[in-house]
Amino acid sequence: MKKKSQTYKLLKTAQKIIPGVAQLLGKRPDMYLKDNNWPTYYSKAKGINIWGLDKKKYYDFSMMSAGTSVLGYADKDVNKASVKAINTGSISTLNPPEDVELAKILLKDHKWAGGVRFARCGGESMAIVVRLARAYTGREKILFCGYHGWHDWYLAANIKSKKNLDFQLLPGLEPLGVPKSLKDTIIPFRFNNWADLKNVIKKNIKNCAAVIMEPCREGLPEKNYLKEIKKITKKNGCLLIFDEITSGWRLNSGGAHKLLNIDPDIVVYGKTIANGIPMSAIIGKKSIMSYVLKTFVSSVFWTEKIGPASAIAFIKKYKKLKVQKKLKSVGFEVKKIWKEAAKEANLDVEISGIDPLASFKIKSKNWPAVLTFFIQEMLKYNILTTDKCYANYKHDQKSLKIYRKACFKVFKKISYIEKSGNILEKLNGPVKEMGFNRLTNHYNE
Ligand SMILES: Cc1ncc(COP(=O)(O)O)c(C=O)c1O
Repeated sequence: MKKKSQTYKLLKTAQKIIPGVAQLLGKRPDMYLKDNNWPTYYSKAKGINIWGLDKKKYYDFSMMSAGTSVLGYADKDVNKASVKAINTGSISTLNPPEDVELAKILLKDHKWAGGVRFARCGGESMAIVVRLARAYTGREKILFCGYHGWHDWYLAANIKSKKNLDFQLLPGLEPLGVPKSLKDTIIPFRFNNWADLKNVIKKNIKNCAAVIMEPCREGLPEKNYLKEIKKITKKNGCLLIFDEITSGWRLNSGGAHKLLNIDPDIVVYGKTIANGIPMSAIIGKKSIMSYVLKTFVSSVFWTEKIGPASAIAFIKKYKKLKVQKKLKSVGFEVKKIWKEAAKEANLDVEISGIDPLASFKIKSKNWPAVLTFFIQEMLKYNILTTDKCYANYKHDQKSLKIYRKACFKVFKKISYIEKSGNILEKLNGPVKEMGFNRLTNHYNE
């Protein structure tokens, strides 16, 4: 970004008064490009396009706002429902009837469940279900795999060893400020790792309130893996909780557990359930959900109307368009592009993730620098990208063609530089941040 640009000025100001600049780790510019080389702010977003403050139009082939809007940004039908909710009073002393309509839709789609509660964010919803599980079972330990938000119960995993969360989604998370007394209340295990599961279960199942996991993300569960976990939780009187905040509405309408044929005790949805309007849902068995009345779970903004009205519009549209078909085919196509571009450039590439949540890694000892170079060069084609691409209903053949062409060119450049030069010398700024631990702290400068 040019020094006199509006983006540059705004970022410089933000760095001084907003610690971390963005409210989500994954939207900090340093997670993409440092030294003001990332557009950082947007003026408009529609479909898969984002316009920067300078009105430059980008194609979003990154995680598309961490996966909040599978119908595309600013979807007209969801927006219509949101605007109607605003115009008829987004909140009042009385409750929105949309809560009941949405709960009915969700219960119809989750026959094993008997109750629904709503919140607005993923992390807070996971804190609710942890409280519920502990209240219901009278036990304290949580066994988990995957990422589940920023709350104390989760970060407590890193009290015993700061590396405990490194093999989940985000490495280097610091449990500073989390009471040390929570040590050993939460035990991680690795997805699809039977030995790890057996070991963790053996040591902790007695005082276990719940096993919490994403049913899929980096890949599908191995045959019988979820079945076995369900058997263990049932036998030992603890709950099986699926966090489908990211995996929900990618492979089918609702959660991946429906496709995998495993009914949990509770499932949690967030992110795309209202296509980018804050909304989350906790759906569970009736006997367990009744515990929200025995403990205290309550918040003012869980009663506003925009969230449930938008979620109803989203779910109806998703089903009508059978959006999962498109997400799977776009994700498959993106993986194919990476594979073919790597083959042509003679690069060794590792591809993972279910198709709608695809990611890649070029095998190189300089991977963070290579990824920074990839992001930097793709930006020259007005493409916002990273090592993950979350498929969207609005990714069409035209945009995929643009992405394909750019990928082939950039992969070739990477291959050439890796063989005959130094990739660090080709970067316009420092190597991007890869996790939580090494973030630049402009705020204290
Ligand atoms: C599986 C999963 N659980 C929980 C969360 C936390 O959600 P939020 O950022 O809305 O608090 C996320 C967010 O990325 C997630 O992917």
